[in-house]
Amino acid sequence: MSEADSTAPAALPEMHKPVLRKEVAALWQAYFRPDLDEKPLSAVQPSMVPGPGHKPGNKYREPAPCPSIRPDLPQNGQLLYVDATLGEAGHARLLLEQQPQAQLLGIDADPQMLGRARHFLDAALGSEQRQQRCRFVERRFSDYFCSLDPGLLQADMILFDLGISLFHYNSEAARGFSFRPEDPEELLDMRLNPAQGQSAAELLQTLSEAELADILYSYGELRNSRRLARLIVAQRDNMELHKAQVLAHFLRQINPTARPGKKKQNGKHNKGNKAKIHPATQVFQALRIAVGDELGQLKSGLPAALEQLRTYGLLAVITFHSLEDRLVKQQFRDWQDQGRVQWVYKKTIQASHDSPLPSERSAKLRVVRRMD
Ligand SMILES: C[S@@+](CC[C@H](N)C(=O)[O-])C[C@H]1O[C@@H](n2cnc3c(N)ncnc32)[C@H](O)[C@@H]1O
Repeated sequence: MSEADSTAPAALPEMHKPVLRKEVAALWQAYFRPDLDEKPLSAVQPSMVPGPGHKPGNKYREPAPCPSIRPDLPQNGQLLYVDATLGEAGHARLLLEQQPQAQLLGIDADPQMLGRARHFLDAALGSEQRQQRCRFVERRFSDYFCSLDPGLLQADMILFDLGISLFHYNSEAARGFSFRPEDPEELLDMRLNPAQGQSAAELLQTLSEAELADILYSYGELRNSRRLARLIVAQRDNMELHKAQVLAHFLRQINPTARPGKKKQNGKHNKGNKAKIHPATQVFQALRIAVGDELGQLKSGLPAALEQLRTYGLLAVITFHSLEDRLVKQQFRDWQDQGRVQWVYKKTIQASHDSPLPSERSAKLRVVRRMD
């Protein structure tokens, strides 16, 4: 496997810390601790692992003892951690620091992200160790896993931290993932690898009205998808809808009170959220999911990834919206019924409510271990 040919820019900003980082680290820690007594899996709780700079007595809980969830771990055995959505390597960095024998195989479809990951891993491990312990694959995870012979990797853990990173949202990538006013000329691209596939602007320009309505309904959960599709198609030749700002502005004009149709809390529509959701948010989400074929990638990527785990290996998935989470839950249930996996956490692990980003507050972690 060769390293992806990407270079990081000379100066990079602070790494964005990924959501549920401590919980994933606790899971990994539990995996290689055969010294601890076996307990029923239902007793496993994600303990809070203090990160760098932790001072005793501050808000982090000390790690609670976790039972070993990998009973046959060979002493001094090498561990393979596969990060299917490497991003800036926030999870990977912590996991490699935690376990000096672990090797990383990091996958990301975005060449720019791989450059950033390499930079951050160099900073954490030193470039020599990074080269010895880390390999990178510049591909979409499903395409990559499906290309491998089953059982080839024998991974100890595979993590999917789905969606896009803060780097993409914050307009640093300048590919129209969000509609912040800083760059009114930013194009509506939304591809992870701008050299491959169709951009969001091309989709908007070429889809039929019915196809666009389906996308808005299925991936944006928009109740007025038909009306929106009709208005977009009617205007797409007259307005510069291939620019993220123009599209967002247009959507605000035609849909000023938009909010997601199905979001409920305690059985009631969550009125408190109404003002915070820009009318374009769900449309942008729908287009992004369509451009990246995100649900298709997940649907075929999960079974192919399971084939790359060794027995007792962990499959962990962090989802950010209900469409993904439903798919993961159903897949894990089916596998459990077939005796292929066992749930590691009976309950879903959720991100803390004080996360700075609304999208992160809905993050959920589900974990199974392979049993066959
Ligand atoms: C939420 S971020 C991951 C953050 C990462 N876990 C970290 O610790 O920094 C998701 C990453 O997955 C990548 N990605 C999304 N879909 C992908 C796919 N189908 N194949 C490969 N990479 C993908 C994105 O480019 C992005 O870098």
